[in-house]
Amino acid sequence: MYLLNAQEIEFYLNGGNDQELYTRADQVRQENFGDEVYLRAIVEFSNVCNKKCKYCGLRAPNSSINRYRLKKTEILDVAELAAVNGAKTIVLQSGDDFSYSSNMVGEIVREIKSRHDVAVTLSLGDRSAEEYAYWFECGADRTLIKLETTDSRIYNDIRCGESLKDRLKLVKALQETGYEVGSGIIVGLPGYSIQQLVADLLFLTDLELDMVAAGPFIPHPDTPYSDVETGNIDISYRFTALLRLLNPQTNIPATSALDSFDSKGRETGLRRGCNVIMPSVTPSANRADYNIYPGKNSVSVDVTDSITNAENLIRSLNFVPSVTKGSSKRKRNVK
Ligand code: 5AD
Ligand code: SF4
Repeated sequence: MYLLNAQEIEFYLNGGNDQELYTRADQVRQENFGDEVYLRAIVEFSNVCNKKCKYCGLRAPNSSINRYRLKKTEILDVAELAAVNGAKTIVLQSGDDFSYSSNMVGEIVREIKSRHDVAVTLSLGDRSAEEYAYWFECGADRTLIKLETTDSRIYNDIRCGESLKDRLKLVKALQETGYEVGSGIIVGLPGYSIQQLVADLLFLTDLELDMVAAGPFIPHPDTPYSDVETGNIDISYRFTALLRLLNPQTNIPATSALDSFDSKGRETGLRRGCNVIMPSVTPSANRADYNIYPGKNSVSVDVTDSITNAENLIRSLNFVPSVTKGSSKRKRNVK
């Protein structure tokens, strides 16, 4: 049983009653999280990627970006700085870069977990379920495996022949391993429709995720989608507000893609049902090169400022930066 039916979802996605939708989303967030907002510090440690996703600036064929790989010691130093500055979750993110071996990732996770009282999230793409299981043993707590769309034909097209089924298998395997698992979609990919977004909302809800993210599509000039229309920002806000109504206890970030439209995009997201923000703590020398879409990481600040700015943003809305790890509150139905 969903908390809203497909007709109601479509009504709201079409802008049938924005005020009511956003008020309800804010209430449900408040009931479940009070004034607390969780902060996740993202270390984008490599922008090397062996894939060709048509929407993403890091795709392998893009020769116009500077590729970088942080060394293990550099990753540990950034994680330490983030933890010392109050971050309770460290997200390790990269393109699909297999030069980081299982052992190396395992060592990084172990060292971060032994030195700091933080949760570690892995956002490393399509590594095997066995590797993820090994990293879970090393102490990793969470993973992010985005679906980007739940339409298998669109998925196959935008990810150059890959299968949605395989990606879903990985999501389920990681849930069974014991990870908190996050996923999400991009709103406004070529070929999308309101009906598809209704299906995406129901599909993501069925997955009983611990985290779900959605942000508007932003065309990157060095991708096959350079001329595709930008995603609709209002539909994107409605989508996250509906995620909140359907998944009251799931962690939902105000994505940085929202800020590409409006410098107050993430604030607006937090007022409309989101309860997480994810500041980049990537070293300033590399940050601009993690250019997934235009506007991403355009502000070059150091780690301390990045976390302080995020905390100030939270306080400016009369919310409180959480001092907890912000672990998932939701319990999955055992199937
Ligand atoms: N526009 C918006 N979001 C994008 N992402 C990747 N490319 C784009 C784009 N062009 C999102 C995807 C990815 C996350 C890191 O950024 O959801 O998983
Ligand atoms: Fe690589 Fe991820 Fe970008 Fe696809 S979305 S090209 S896997 S970084």
